[in-house]
Amino acid sequence: MESNTPSVTALISAFGRAYHATHAQEKIFDDYLADQLFTDEQRAFFSENLARSFAFFDPEGAACVASQEEALANFMRNQSLPITLSRARYVEEILEREIQNGVTQYVILGAGLDTFAFRRSDLMQHLALFEVDQPATQNYKRARVQELKWQVPPQLHWVALDFKHDALMRALEAAGYDSNALTLFSWLGVTYYLARDVIDATLRDIAVPTRPGSTIIFDYLDTDAFIPERTAPRVAKMQTATQQSGEPMQTGFDPARLGAELDARGFTLQENSSPDDIQARYFRGRTDGYYAFEHIHFARAAVKYR
Ligand SMILES: C[S@@+](CC[C@H](N)C(=O)[O-])C[C@H]1O[C@@H](n2cnc3c(N)ncnc32)[C@H](O)[C@@H]1O
Repeated sequence: MESNTPSVTALISAFGRAYHATHAQEKIFDDYLADQLFTDEQRAFFSENLARSFAFFDPEGAACVASQEEALANFMRNQSLPITLSRARYVEEILEREIQNGVTQYVILGAGLDTFAFRRSDLMQHLALFEVDQPATQNYKRARVQELKWQVPPQLHWVALDFKHDALMRALEAAGYDSNALTLFSWLGVTYYLARDVIDATLRDIAVPTRPGSTIIFDYLDTDAFIPERTAPRVAKMQTATQQSGEPMQTGFDPARLGAELDARGFTLQENSSPDDIQARYFRGRTDGYYAFEHIHFARAAVKYR
């Protein structure tokens, strides 16, 4: 990714949430603000290009569609939305519960164009929020928020950094993060793009000063996703596409070893949801063809008591 351009995957994730909010009858996650993040020109640009990309993801399916709208709907249903919507819903469900248990800080790592701060005033009133992202993506979002004249809540703290080079917890503390407060960290749609040593260093960095009992939630690709003969076709296509967009997927975890790996980095694994679990929780009974993405898992872990 170029350092002066916003993350393409963040834009596509937000465009997907906007598409779902404006098109779906039965919503998995209702990001009713996301559509406003896009100008008319941007909406037309993403609609056209993502519809066109359906031919790459499913050449046979693309030969049968009659319009750009149909191609876009197919791309969204098959390729883009199942991951984005289910992970967003999962984290906000857990956050609601954790606020009841005393969480007063929420740190969104790799926030992209997440609209939580502006959409969930019901939860914001209980929280200090820290949005962490690379400067180019965060600056882009802040400029758009300003253009839209959205009221930035005083509890929102922007933290611009790169996990690869910068000390996360030092930057959070400089922005007002309170290490005595119970905190929920979310890290959605990010671990796949980071090298393993960067993930490990970030987890260790979080675990040291953070109050025990605090929670981290992240989604991850399993290691089978990186073994060509085992990778599900749509995941293989996604890997090719993200590589071409300059944000290659590079790291996966073995679900069976995740508990031990987190334990060594200061966390106790509390929930490790497989694609089948995610299917049962968010997609069972749907008649619109959405189903959980192969190889994508959700992990929830707590900072260990020492
Ligand atoms: C796929 S987007 C996900 C955005 C958001 N969490 C969501 O679910 O829509 C990945 C995000 O991680 C951020 N990111 C990727 N690598 C990063 C790094 N090394 N340091 C900081 N942020 C990074 C990108 O800028 C982008 O906003």
